Amino acid sequence: MRAVAVFPGQRTVRLVEHPAPRINAASELRIRTLEVGVCGTDREICTFVYGSPPADFDYLVLGHEALGEVVEVGPGVSRFRLGDLVVPSVRRPCSHAECSGCRADRQDFCFTGDFTERGIKMTHGFMTEQFVEEEKHLTFVPPELRDVAVLVEPLTVAEKALAQVWQVQERLPAWALPAGASAERGRGRNAVVLGAGPVGILGAMMLVANGFKTFVYSRSLPPNPKAQLVESFGVPYISALAVSAEELAERVGNIDLVYEAIGVASTSFKVLKVLGTNGAFVFTGIPFPNPAISVEADQIMRNLVLKNQMVFGTVNADRAAFEAAIRDLGIFKRRWPQALQSLFTGRYPLEAYGDLLLGKQRGIKNVVTLA
Ligand code: BGC
Repeated sequence: MRAVAVFPGQRTVRLVEHPAPRINAASELRIRTLEVGVCGTDREICTFVYGSPPADFDYLVLGHEALGEVVEVGPGVSRFRLGDLVVPSVRRPCSHAECSGCRADRQDFCFTGDFTERGIKMTHGFMTEQFVEEEKHLTFVPPELRDVAVLVEPLTVAEKALAQVWQVQERLPAWALPAGASAERGRGRNAVVLGAGPVGILGAMMLVANGFKTFVYSRSLPPNPKAQLVESFGVPYISALAVSAEELAERVGNIDLVYEAIGVASTSFKVLKVLGTNGAFVFTGIPFPNPAISVEADQIMRNLVLKNQMVFGTVNADRAAFEAAIRDLGIFKRRWPQALQSLFTGRYPLEAYGDLLLGKQRGIKNVVTLA
């Protein structure tokens, strides 16, 4: 099978002939890959600063944002049939008996660090024609989401973040969900999204769908296609080059939630300084290790205490986040069909990997199409 492979030892990225996968356990399925999204993590792995091949390989098959179709089911599989569309999750559990995260199927909270990640850390990914996966790591995709379901994985970043925000903010009397309340739990709250890449834009859609008054704060000056896109679903786009964090806070009012998807520490810590009273700030970006920067640490620390603020990071995603992402993509598709389609910059064959992974970053979401 053709596969896009990263050879960290040789510092090359190329198409390889990769062995076709076989079902080895009753609970496994064989999946034909339909589409794979390209993200910043993939591009970083191709600079050899991140990612690692499986122990017995000198290369890693790339790709962790996939959509596929079931072509074979093991005898113990109960939730899927041939022809079903599925999305795989990324992280796989460590093997340590004492890891309460992994043993509870919450490898996103692995304690040992010995988890693996498909297409990233010690397990091959999905930029290849077929893959085999255990049933519990797959989520069903309704056929009507075929054209957008490759966005599920990046949306899970936001879904897990928001699920954590709800839990964290249960500390506040006013955030508790009233009995029988609708999905619009964020109504009356202000949210700021940092960054206008796919994870930021999808996060902004999710926050609007949850009732938050949402703003996107990102670097580039408007007009630009990302600003146009977020404004098309009613979210003001504010450029960090034109508007300071203090001015942002004046415009927004009490910043109840910051969803960071920009991966830039300097912008993030400037906005952390203006987080509102009782606010939560959730980090999802993984910046490249840059030289140290100075931040207004005393002011941030005063605010954290005197304003009861909460700052936390979130990585990867659990099954509930995948299910929430599929439900929300359906909502986005009904509410903002045009905006959702505009996230896609282009769809390309596997052979275009060089340009997509090593060339200049272009547009919003590029997708490799295999079928
Ligand atoms: C993926 C996550 C992963 C993280 C760190 C992200 O691009 O979406 O699943 O945990 O990279 O490797």
